[in-house]
Amino acid sequence: MLAIAFLALTAVLPRVSGHSGEHGFLSRTMSLIAKLPTAFWHPSMFGFNVTDKTFPYDNRPVTPIKNMNFTEWWFHNHLDYPPNPGDIFELPAGKPATAQIACNKGATDFFASSEGGDIRDPNNMDDPCPHSPTTAYHTNGFDDLEGCALAIAYKNDARAVQPEDFTVFSVNHTCVWTRHTDFQVPARMPPCPEGGCICAFFWIHSPLSGGEENYMNGFRCNVTGSTSNAPVAQSKLPRRCGIDLPNKKLQDVPANCTYGAKQPFYWFNNERNNMFEGTYSPPVYNDLYNFIDGAQEDIFVDSYTHIPDPAPNAALPNLAHVAANVPLPTINITVPQVAPFGADGESYVGKPNMGESHVTANIRLRRRMNRNRMHRRVKRSNMW
Ligand SMILES: *[C@@H]1O[C@H](CO)[C@@H](O)[C@H](O)[C@H]1NC(C)=O
Ligand SMILES: *[C@@H]1O[C@H](CO)[C@@H](O)[C@H](O)[C@H]1NC(C)=O
Ligand SMILES: *[C@@H]1O[C@H](CO)[C@@H](O)[C@H](O)[C@H]1NC(C)=O
Ligand SMILES: *[C@@H]1O[C@H](CO)[C@@H](O)[C@H](O)[C@H]1NC(C)=O
Ligand SMILES: *[C@@H]1O[C@H](CO)[C@@H](O)[C@H](O)[C@H]1NC(C)=O
Ligand SMILES: *[C@@H]1O[C@H](CO)[C@@H](O)[C@H](O)[C@H]1NC(C)=O
Repeated sequence: MLAIAFLALTAVLPRVSGHSGEHGFLSRTMSLIAKLPTAFWHPSMFGFNVTDKTFPYDNRPVTPIKNMNFTEWWFHNHLDYPPNPGDIFELPAGKPATAQIACNKGATDFFASSEGGDIRDPNNMDDPCPHSPTTAYHTNGFDDLEGCALAIAYKNDARAVQPEDFTVFSVNHTCVWTRHTDFQVPARMPPCPEGGCICAFFWIHSPLSGGEENYMNGFRCNVTGSTSNAPVAQSKLPRRCGIDLPNKKLQDVPANCTYGAKQPFYWFNNERNNMFEGTYSPPVYNDLYNFIDGAQEDIFVDSYTHIPDPAPNAALPNLAHVAANVPLPTINITVPQVAPFGADGESYVGKPNMGESHVTANIRLRRRMNRNRMHRRVKRSNMW
């Protein structure tokens, strides 16, 4: 177990320790940003030029969404404000796509069409919310960042897209820390239909950071450099299966997770919610709902040979060999090192299938689970 713990730690630590020198500054900045309304900005988005005057109410792309009827919240009610033809956000399969997330269009490269012009801070060009009053906010630390997501629908007509059509394909756990935010695109993303796909940015912030709110910005997107034609699977509801200290859940429950393609969270509106968590337990795009940091490589119809219905005492799913072949960026773990999984006293009711052809797949699954667990431990230790 020690070996795994160490390996898992080294996989996580560089990200944490790399910033430790600036920890005070960063946690201040992060907790500030996590409280500020932000949007995904790109000419491919719906509502690119919508200002606080466009609607009878303030419906800027950065305005949080809550307590709204479906037409008001879906695509931020910006379907009548489509992007110009040809403006598309490219998703290079197996590579990162860099998005710009900011409190104001003037803080992005697209400031030219912003009413206030260029408000970027020359001393910190990556600040998503320049000139915001930092003193108004208290520090909550790393755990204030709960992650954001990009989802895709393999349809070229935004009006035809239904909430169930979206599948989360990439997550960034440290969103919205910096304006430029990388989203790793899964290597096996299939090509989009003619005219491209429809994507959306989703974010729900920490309960420590203000009221219950959703963020959604739709945009046109297109997968480039595809090497696979296996379609994205029908997305399912994510489930709350990770460590959840505020709710006194001290262990994660991997068998309770949804594996494979998962829908975004639709929460706290009047209509078509798919999440019903309370005010202080928002659904979030991180390990709590089995959204790993980065590309969601297991969202395809052939990613698993079998996914049992999730439940605390269910069996774990079997990753298919095809998914296991996706190269992992970190370390090489051999079977004997992995075998004591669970030996740290945590009980796993699920019995991973260790059949010959699934060995690597299960190692990957276990590594993910270990990584998730360690990641949250490291995050927790940062709080104290
Ligand atoms: C939202 O829907 C309800 C029920 O259909 C309706 O009574 C209400 O007027 C709607 N609100 C808005 C702002 O459209
Ligand atoms: C947004 O405004 C800019 C500047 O007025 C204009 O060039 C651009 O075409 C507009 N984009 C959309 C999608 O309306
Ligand atoms: C999240 O975005 C940040 C800022 O661009 C980047 O440094 C980080 O690598 C991204 N995380 C992942 C998992 O891609
Ligand atoms: C999407 O990308 C593919 C592959 O590069 C390309 O052939 C297609 O023309 C692109 N579609 C759009 C609408 O940009
Ligand atoms: C399992 O997931 C469901 C659905 O998200 C959640 O309500 C429940 O608390 C979870 N149970 C455990 C033990 O993780
Ligand atoms: C991983 O381990 C295998 C088996 O020992 C070895 O063949 C391979 O070269 C190793 N890969 C790396 C990247 O160390």
